Amino acid sequence: MTKPYVYITRKLDEASLTPLKEVAHVEMWPSEDEPCPREELETQAAKADALLTMLSDQIDEPLLSKAPNIKVVANLAVGYDNIDLEAAKKHGITVCHTPDVLTESTADLAFALLMASARRIVEASDWIKDGNWTGWGPLLLAGADVHHKTLGIVGMGSIGTALAKRAKGFNMNVLYHNRSRKPEAEAQLGVTYAAFEELLKQSDFIVCLTPLTPETKDMFNEKAFDLMKNSAYFINVSRGQTVNEDALYEAVTTGKIAGAGLDVFRQEPVSPSHPLTTLPNVTVLPHIGSASVETRKTMMRLCAENIALVLQDEPAKTPVRL
Ligand code: DGY
Repeated sequence: MTKPYVYITRKLDEASLTPLKEVAHVEMWPSEDEPCPREELETQAAKADALLTMLSDQIDEPLLSKAPNIKVVANLAVGYDNIDLEAAKKHGITVCHTPDVLTESTADLAFALLMASARRIVEASDWIKDGNWTGWGPLLLAGADVHHKTLGIVGMGSIGTALAKRAKGFNMNVLYHNRSRKPEAEAQLGVTYAAFEELLKQSDFIVCLTPLTPETKDMFNEKAFDLMKNSAYFINVSRGQTVNEDALYEAVTTGKIAGAGLDVFRQEPVSPSHPLTTLPNVTVLPHIGSASVETRKTMMRLCAENIALVLQDEPAKTPVRL
């Protein structure tokens, strides 16, 4: 019997795929950082039994309607806003993602970006490398304190909770906003629920960790930045589409807020000439929230495991509920 065919849209660590290769014929797009072109993805999807996809691949009705054999799409991310779930449901396709395994790594990155923004770490490093350091100065590259400040977390899922734990270690006061209240986190971590506008008004650091949905799209708009303190920092480790980037640019250049730390952009990869990437008080990263070698390999293994299970008519380990 011929093995089912699995197509992977980016070059992944071979060793993480070994168990999958025992049950399937696996092919990969050969580049680690250049995305698989749409035309190639369509050609591969048309003959594949399963896809292992990246968050940069659009998995939509036009693609799935021409992919009659696909049983499972496993996305190498916890977010799955790049996948049309309605279309997947219509075609009887299981969609999988990688929750839990990236929680701690992504919370580490979110806190690192917060610290880097507040204490001007990247700006200071660049400043030395550009040959500017001629002498020590009392307020040279002075930033803002993090300890004992108020952190506002928007999106209190598992990553938000892990971020709150880190913040408590810095004696921060933690507010959160979420669709539903989190009594456990309130009792165990001493975090406080706040309405969105209240959180924006009171926080010194606002961290966006919410999934991208029709409700969260553009939620950080001109009105939201107007409500923030002039000394506040906005940190985004969620999805670029939660932010109106023109409004954010206006806020950081007119002193409505002190700065921003961005791991995500509306259009990725972001251009080096994008207005937000030109500002010293905006720290920018190339969507590396979960990018530790250990975590990314764990995510690869989880995707491979999910595909192998579904291809063998077993339930997936981490399916998205359709
Ligand atoms: C995810 O998993 O959704 C993250 O954005 C990847 O860093």
